[in-house]
Amino acid sequence: MIDYIALIKKYDSPLYVYDGDCIKKQFVALNKAFSSWRNVRINYAMKALSSVAILQLMKQLGSKVDAVSLSEIKLAMLAGFEVKAISFTPNGVPFSEIEAAITLGVHITLDNLEQIQVYATKYSDKPLAIRIKPNVKAGGNEKIAVGHKDSKFGVPLSQLAEIKALVNDNKLKIDGLHLHTGSDIGNEQAFLDAAEVLFQIAKNFNDLQFLDFGSGFKVKYKAADKATNIEHLADKLTTRFSLFCQEYGRDLQLIIEPGKFLVSESGQFLTTVSTVKKTDEKQFVFVDAGFNMLQRPMFYDAYHHIINYSIDETPNTYYDVVGYICEADTFAKDRLLPPTKTGDVLAFQNAGAYAFSMASNYNSRLRPAEVLCVDGVCKLIRKRETVGTLLEGQVYNEL
Ligand SMILES: Cc1ncc(COP(=O)(O)O)c(C=O)c1O
Repeated sequence: MIDYIALIKKYDSPLYVYDGDCIKKQFVALNKAFSSWRNVRINYAMKALSSVAILQLMKQLGSKVDAVSLSEIKLAMLAGFEVKAISFTPNGVPFSEIEAAITLGVHITLDNLEQIQVYATKYSDKPLAIRIKPNVKAGGNEKIAVGHKDSKFGVPLSQLAEIKALVNDNKLKIDGLHLHTGSDIGNEQAFLDAAEVLFQIAKNFNDLQFLDFGSGFKVKYKAADKATNIEHLADKLTTRFSLFCQEYGRDLQLIIEPGKFLVSESGQFLTTVSTVKKTDEKQFVFVDAGFNMLQRPMFYDAYHHIINYSIDETPNTYYDVVGYICEADTFAKDRLLPPTKTGDVLAFQNAGAYAFSMASNYNSRLRPAEVLCVDGVCKLIRKRETVGTLLEGQVYNEL
């Protein structure tokens, strides 16, 4: 059991803490669920949480990596991943970034005709994967639903003939097809429908080595939420995949690229109550953090369960839990908590994915420290920032 109160005392507040054993448990569960297919690759979507110690843990577990920027590629390499273990799936980046990744030897997936055209003429000796747009609406909300017809992601199905012609003209090998319909997919059938689109398209490409089904595996944010039944989904997908490979005439690699499923539940964001404010309408609990440190509630209207570690009483009071940023900065509205007072430690659950990795220095606030606990040993994996961090790279005249 992690002693969160002891950690906040030792490393100060606010603080991100990750339970490495939880990450292991999720990785093992995923691996096991897909084990009926002999050639499965798990690409950890490192955008979810890219701290190097976390990447190192993923590597130890046997994961590979999905990167979406050149800096992510560099961080993964620094964490010890070979370039072969890194897949680059950018969206709308300048072509120079793609070329830099090619120079490093990383495999590329592209999702736009213009860039595929340039790639085909310049790099026809390097196999390429293509991300398609399956026209399936899936994902927790508008911002994270990315496979529907109006989405900016993926090559529209109507352009596939043009891509095939390009491939033939330039003797380019398409070694993989990819899709990702969204995060937080509550509906298993939507995932399978999108996969079916990929199977149908895949028949038309002769050089495939893999099919990548992205992710979107759902975890529980609320007690009543239904997480993806990963065994069930994996069973359905691998069965269909096996059938596809028989028809295709060759066994391919099955790739998935989870972020949330692997790290969301491992993370807790610990904060301390700075003050409590009663107004005629509401009671506000202010914590020593803001959307610069945990943006999901404000950006995605995401629910993060909150535990008050300082008091062991039944929740009986409604509070708005807010931050100190000088604009709307509400973590939770009308949240039932035990009677909460200044100095209490409040922990936001599910703070492993898209939490620290989306943090910023808005309001010139310093990003918090991070701690990783594995096998009962907790270690600092990122120091709290200082004003020096804010000044780094700035050019100014000293007054
Ligand atoms: C291309 C791609 N793959 C994988 C993921 C990971 O998704 P999730 O965190 O829902 O597992 C994302 C997330 O946005 C993504 O854009």
